[in-house]
Amino acid sequence: MNYGLVAVYKTIFSIVYGAYMDLISIRDVGLKDIEAILDTTEKIHNKEHEVDLKGKILATLFFEPSTRTKLSFQSAAMRCGMEILDFLPESSSLKKGESFVDTIKTVTGYADALAVRHPKEGSARLAASVSNKPVVNGGDGGNQHPTQTLIDLFSIRKSKGRIKGLNVTLLGDMKHARTMRSLVYGLAMFNANITLVSPKGLEMDPRYLDEVNKKFGLNVKIDNTPNYSDADVLYVCRIQAERFADPYEAQRVQEEFRVKKADLKDAKEDLAILHPLPKINEIESSIDEMPQAKYFEQAHYGIPLRMAVLEYLLR
Ligand code: NCD
Repeated sequence: MNYGLVAVYKTIFSIVYGAYMDLISIRDVGLKDIEAILDTTEKIHNKEHEVDLKGKILATLFFEPSTRTKLSFQSAAMRCGMEILDFLPESSSLKKGESFVDTIKTVTGYADALAVRHPKEGSARLAASVSNKPVVNGGDGGNQHPTQTLIDLFSIRKSKGRIKGLNVTLLGDMKHARTMRSLVYGLAMFNANITLVSPKGLEMDPRYLDEVNKKFGLNVKIDNTPNYSDADVLYVCRIQAERFADPYEAQRVQEEFRVKKADLKDAKEDLAILHPLPKINEIESSIDEMPQAKYFEQAHYGIPLRMAVLEYLLR
């Protein structure tokens, strides 16, 4: 296989068919396509649409821990009639020293689509460039997590009826969380008002915010102390301890940083509290019982959303 040609072929395909064969970054999907994916998700969720991908195989290659992304990709694929190939790094030839690229080049020949998660930024793009099958990024380091963003946008639209013009507060580790980076881009596409709140030193990279600002005229406020009263959506994520150079620093921030039920006393009654999960201790457990807490519902939307994504990539 000529891997330079693979990239050219994928680009031509995307121009001719108006569809992108890979989903590596939320940048890869235009607003129209996002809206179409969210509409299909709604129909699948309401049992008004079935996805038939019988005879196709999804390979899941997760080089980093995962519960929701991997299992919901697998469950979604099975619900589309697909079969699953689960690559497990710890019992694979990776242990003999085989490279990531050789692994992808091999598995590409065994499946019709690949869902890949890896701790290094750029790894999913690299995988796509050596695979002649659609690659979907299940999270590459602190960079991007496009299907999580689609779930988040779907969850917001589902609980608030719209995204445009909403006040969305993102709270957590803006420096390392790929969910936050992807979501800022997605929310900016829909013209939401975004407030970013993070512990000192964990702010989002200003170069990334500049890029989003240039494209969409990002409406963003940056803060170190949250004001919950004007938020329509509160999106929390954990401190990404595994991406810190100093584990003690991660522990210190983790101990300091927590949303308590009492903090939400002035919050809007119809506030939607979202979280990509896993949550560790950044959100007091009594918040789980509040009607505003929508994060488990959000995790379950992963199924119809990923079914819609598989159809989008494999149609
Ligand atoms: C997130 C991830 O892996 O980036 N989890 C997920 O996919 N639902 C969030 C996190 O790990 O904090």
